[in-house]
Amino acid sequence: MELMEGKKISWKKFLTFFLFSFVFSSCLFVSLHQFRTPKPEDHSSHLSTQMPLAENTSTPPKSEHRLTILLWSWPFGQHFNFRNCSELFGTPDCYFTVNRSWSQKADAVIMHHRDVCWDTKRLAQIPTPSQRWIWFNLESPSHSPNLGAMDNLFNLTMSYRRDSDIFSPYGDLQLLSQPQPFNIPSKTKMVAWVVSNWQVGSRRVKYYQELKKYIAVDVYGQHHLPLPRDKLLPTVSQYNFYLAFENSQHEDYITEKLWMNALSSGTVPVVLGPPRENYERFLPPDSFIHVDDFPSASDLAQYLWELSRDTERYQHYFQWRKWLKPVAVTGWALQVCRACHFLQTTETRYRVVPDLSEWFV
Ligand SMILES: *[C@@H]1O[C@H](CO)[C@@H](O)[C@H](O)[C@H]1NC(C)=O
Ligand SMILES: *[C@@H]1O[C@H](CO)[C@@H](O)[C@H](O)[C@H]1NC(C)=O
Ligand SMILES: *[C@@H]1O[C@H](CO)[C@@H](O)[C@H](O)[C@H]1NC(C)=O
Repeated sequence: MELMEGKKISWKKFLTFFLFSFVFSSCLFVSLHQFRTPKPEDHSSHLSTQMPLAENTSTPPKSEHRLTILLWSWPFGQHFNFRNCSELFGTPDCYFTVNRSWSQKADAVIMHHRDVCWDTKRLAQIPTPSQRWIWFNLESPSHSPNLGAMDNLFNLTMSYRRDSDIFSPYGDLQLLSQPQPFNIPSKTKMVAWVVSNWQVGSRRVKYYQELKKYIAVDVYGQHHLPLPRDKLLPTVSQYNFYLAFENSQHEDYITEKLWMNALSSGTVPVVLGPPRENYERFLPPDSFIHVDDFPSASDLAQYLWELSRDTERYQHYFQWRKWLKPVAVTGWALQVCRACHFLQTTETRYRVVPDLSEWFV
């Protein structure tokens, strides 16, 4: 899947961007002011990845300097091939390595939370003054142990949270250059759910157990109906509805269950996760059904029955696709390219993330 990040426009990203710009502009005023009226004796406040410091001739001009990014360890031990980020983002390529001999020289170090969270002592080597440490995590706080150990350690955050320094969502909407009719895959079945992590007593399992009293739900995954990975999308596409139930409820924690399983397969997502308002920051309001819209599972079941028998109303859930295409973000290589892109397009500011554990909840 080719992802041209530059051409993708998340539906409320503009609004968010302007809001952020506004908020940040006041915080940045002081440093920007300094930037415009540089004081030669003070380099530290306006080090930039893009602009070579005129006074410092000992380092090569930054335009010829390829940024080196050390990936501290393979995320979850999963090896992958690095990609040329220039093909994805239009900014120069970075040199990626997992070779820790680079730990003093690298411009930035990406550390994947779950692989370092129990091992912070080993991280306690002093980074070079301009090196940036990036905290990388796509899991929810419920599945991110030992967050307290991460306080005061990192310079940048990279996660699915919209207010991360490097925003790394599980999916995004692409604005089509021309309106295009969307062909809804033909529907022969009602409700599907693919679940691997079955936790008795979790909110989503309890909701499912209530829902299935009123409507048949085909459950796939471990201990349920078998479903090979390459059959996921064609199988799910036959269903009217897909239960995109998150394993835990946290702000912005909207995963591949929605972007890949439900939207890429061309079905209507029934979501359980953060509140509807949060989903609406990522998606049009009429693109999904939220369990909180109904007082009970039986009311939801009734609604799904009615909708499946009313073609016109059902089709309404696909109207937004005339202009917008959901794109599931897959692969670590793309995620680390986001860091490469960020480092080259954002002015360097000295900062430390003090209360990571208070923020990431
Ligand atoms: C990246 O670009 C280099 C040349 O700049 C090329 O040799 C290499 O094959 C490219 N890698 C990928 C994965 O496209
Ligand atoms: C890591 O980098 C060092 C220094 O560039 C080099 O000597 C060493 O062979 C590299 N190790 C691996 C496993 O590539
Ligand atoms: C990054 O954070 C460390 C603390 O872990 C700090 O010593 C260093 O100055 C920070 N670097 C930048 C570029 O902000």
